[in-house]
Amino acid sequence: MKNKNKTVWSKRLKGNVSKSFQRIGSSINVDKRLYKQDIAASFAHVQMLIKQKIIPSQDGKKILSGLKKIKKLIDRKNFVFHEKYEDIHLNIEKKLFEIIGSSAGYMHTARSRNDQVVTDFKLWIKDSTHTVLKDLNSLMREIIKKAEKNIETVMPGFTHLKNAQPVSFAHYLFAYYEMLKRDKKRFQNNLNLLNESPLGAAALSGTSYNIDRNFTAKKLGFQKPTDNSIDSVSDRDFVIDFLYASAVCAMHLSRLAEDFIIFNSDAFKLIQFTDNVLTGSSIMPQKKNPDPAELIRGRVGINYGKLNAILTIMKGLPMSYFKDLQDDKALAFDGYDTLKDSLLMANELIVNLKPSKERMLLMANEGYTTATDFADYLVKEKKLTFRESYGIASNLVNYAEKNNKNLDQLTIIELKKFYKNLDNKVMKVFNVKNSMNSKNSYGGTSSNNVRKMLRKYKKEIKS
Ligand code: ARG
Repeated sequence: MKNKNKTVWSKRLKGNVSKSFQRIGSSINVDKRLYKQDIAASFAHVQMLIKQKIIPSQDGKKILSGLKKIKKLIDRKNFVFHEKYEDIHLNIEKKLFEIIGSSAGYMHTARSRNDQVVTDFKLWIKDSTHTVLKDLNSLMREIIKKAEKNIETVMPGFTHLKNAQPVSFAHYLFAYYEMLKRDKKRFQNNLNLLNESPLGAAALSGTSYNIDRNFTAKKLGFQKPTDNSIDSVSDRDFVIDFLYASAVCAMHLSRLAEDFIIFNSDAFKLIQFTDNVLTGSSIMPQKKNPDPAELIRGRVGINYGKLNAILTIMKGLPMSYFKDLQDDKALAFDGYDTLKDSLLMANELIVNLKPSKERMLLMANEGYTTATDFADYLVKEKKLTFRESYGIASNLVNYAEKNNKNLDQLTIIELKKFYKNLDNKVMKVFNVKNSMNSKNSYGGTSSNNVRKMLRKYKKEIKS
């Protein structure tokens, strides 16, 4: 065949590009990951060309069967990708010529790589978002399972990493459930926004062929075609939104990871992990290190980096397509791969986590975590203003600290030194479990409330 080994523009551009530019300028090693989407988009495009009688039906059918063969070849790893043909689009077109001959020449009618690549990429982001949503769901399910067993597990809640107030371990875990639920919405929001097909925008101006963009949009699962051809080939908002949603989600996971690292430390000893998610040390025989949590914590940096990179690539980029845009795919792929691994590790950490309930209870009793409960008691039972009772409770804490006692170790006689009119009934406010269960306001940490949330979450995660 005459054109074998030639680029599609070989009549216009003489000779080969430099070796170094071929390596740097080609994207095939990255965008071969789009082959399924590229073939699906070409398939829909060619079906439309046949239907609209823009190309002869016989040639069109040859193209369709050729595309199916190419998909199988790539599926089975029997396809050789060439840097010379730059990207996935031209590699596939070249192969089509090889398989079906000159009929392949009809495929690129009424389209450009500019609308082709953004169509493929939107389809990929859609598919990948669905996978992330599934992973998020399974992590949320594991959180529910772990929480269900720990509604009555009292732990110290922290602010400033200082003991603050007793909370239920389930309630703490559900805080992450809420974050992940918002992450899902962010991803879903992007799915709604990107739901318009760019195919048919061609290079930038649309096309003079009588194409049916509604047909291809529908075939590819988009709601409708995009309304402006220039915007269609220039828009990468869906990549930014995807990387933003990924970055926020990775940030949530890094907070979870950091909590776990702290809780698992020898200073805190609040949680333990089974050995299958820990590593040892090459020198210190005693070590058990929570490496997966540290990887999650660190890798959010990759997710932020990818988001920052795409925002910078897009800044000030004139209309419409420029090669700058070629690098968007590697960013999305890396961001996705990183997030998926972090989700997987977070899932395994939750599954393999064991709360040290006794230690949690002990620590919940330290640091005067029921001082606020005492102040609230004086407000409710003795009709003091909160600031008055807050002052009395502060004095009590000072006393307890000086005498090296926890609040629940004080006697009624000692308590009466700070407020005369007290009897034994006050003692219950220093019980950390009572403290936890008294927080019955909507969204609070009481067992009743957490049980309600558990029911709600179980229901919504199913639907
Ligand atoms: N590989 C290219 C990319 O990913 C496809 C679009 C090429 N278009 C062009 N006018 N050179 O951006």
